[in-house]
Amino acid sequence: MQNNQKIIAIFGAGGFLGKNLMRQLTKMEYRVKVATRNPYLKGYLKPLGNPGQIELFETDIFNLNEVKAVLRNCDFVINLVGILNETRKQKFNKIHAQFPYLLSKLCDEFGIERLVHISALGVKENHTSKYMESKLQGEKNIFENFKPSVILRPSVCFGNEDKFFNTFASIAQFLPILPLVGGGKTKFAPIYVGDVAQAIVKSLQLNNSKPKIYELGGPENYSFKELMEILLKEIKKKRLLISVPFGLAKFQSHFLQFMPNPLLTPDQVEMLKYNNIVSGQYSTLKDLGITGKTIETILPKYIYRFRTGGEFG
Ligand SMILES: NC(=O)c1ccc[n+]([C@@H]2O[C@H](COP(=O)([O-])OP(=O)(O)OC[C@H]3O[C@@H](n4cnc5c(N)ncnc54)[C@H](OP(=O)(O)O)[C@@H]3O)[C@@H](O)[C@H]2O)c1
Repeated sequence: MQNNQKIIAIFGAGGFLGKNLMRQLTKMEYRVKVATRNPYLKGYLKPLGNPGQIELFETDIFNLNEVKAVLRNCDFVINLVGILNETRKQKFNKIHAQFPYLLSKLCDEFGIERLVHISALGVKENHTSKYMESKLQGEKNIFENFKPSVILRPSVCFGNEDKFFNTFASIAQFLPILPLVGGGKTKFAPIYVGDVAQAIVKSLQLNNSKPKIYELGGPENYSFKELMEILLKEIKKKRLLISVPFGLAKFQSHFLQFMPNPLLTPDQVEMLKYNNIVSGQYSTLKDLGITGKTIETILPKYIYRFRTGGEFG
């Protein structure tokens, strides 16, 4: 075991990726300062470290003084803050572009060793999705303000509590059909959340202070339709896979977006028009010395709860 005793500030640690990352960091003896909107709701993070190893700070990410209090004495910063849908208060540009701008400026001011920022696979110029546009702007803001930054662009992440497989498995519980937007032809490179967490840890240890981008995809690419077929096989359910043209999906998404946890938004329809796979133009998981785990080895370990008979069904 390494005894780092280095201090890491994490923004957005209470989410899916953060929870999976925390244990990897505390096992390596890092000390962690977690910036969260509500420390009382994130108490579950504390048992992931030794007493005193994880400290929670109530933070408004746009309050300079509060962010500075978190960054004080830190060696590394990790930014996991992100949203999948916009709401009245939460806007893509604010969360994915303005906050990275502010954070990277402060990393420079505080002499932080490295900032690891989580973007998304598929960001590129002239993308028609606002999510992707804001993620790209966030990357640009970071590289402009703070050179010792590593940007990780994961594809859709799977693992216990993921939003992808768990959401579609829930839909399959009550609907006889599963929709395939654009025929389900969009390709993804699903990556195990534990591998992304490992990539973050490795990024902290890189011997290089130049800006760097890694595209993080799993070992295989699958079409959306193939992913639904794998899921249905695993939860032992037969559902009709119905193709929904992009135009119709867009129309439906204008209504669906108002659900509390929207199943589909117009912006997500835009995202589905582009493949979400590693481009070959950037470094990858392999360059970080990580062998990605396959869906087949991980999915059965958590998705069985959607089978009629549960684990032994
Ligand atoms: N999961 C995926 O498949 C996937 C794929 C590609 C990229 N990513 C990116 O990876 C990052 C982490 O994803 P995740 O799956 O862990 O997301 P998540 O479970 O939704 O967690 C996101 C975190 O963002 C924080 N957050 C959101 N709005 C905030 C605000 N206004 N102020 C402060 N914090 C705010 C939340 O922090 P608190 O509630 O603690 O305050 C939450 O812990 C995101 O940037 C996401 O875009 C994820």
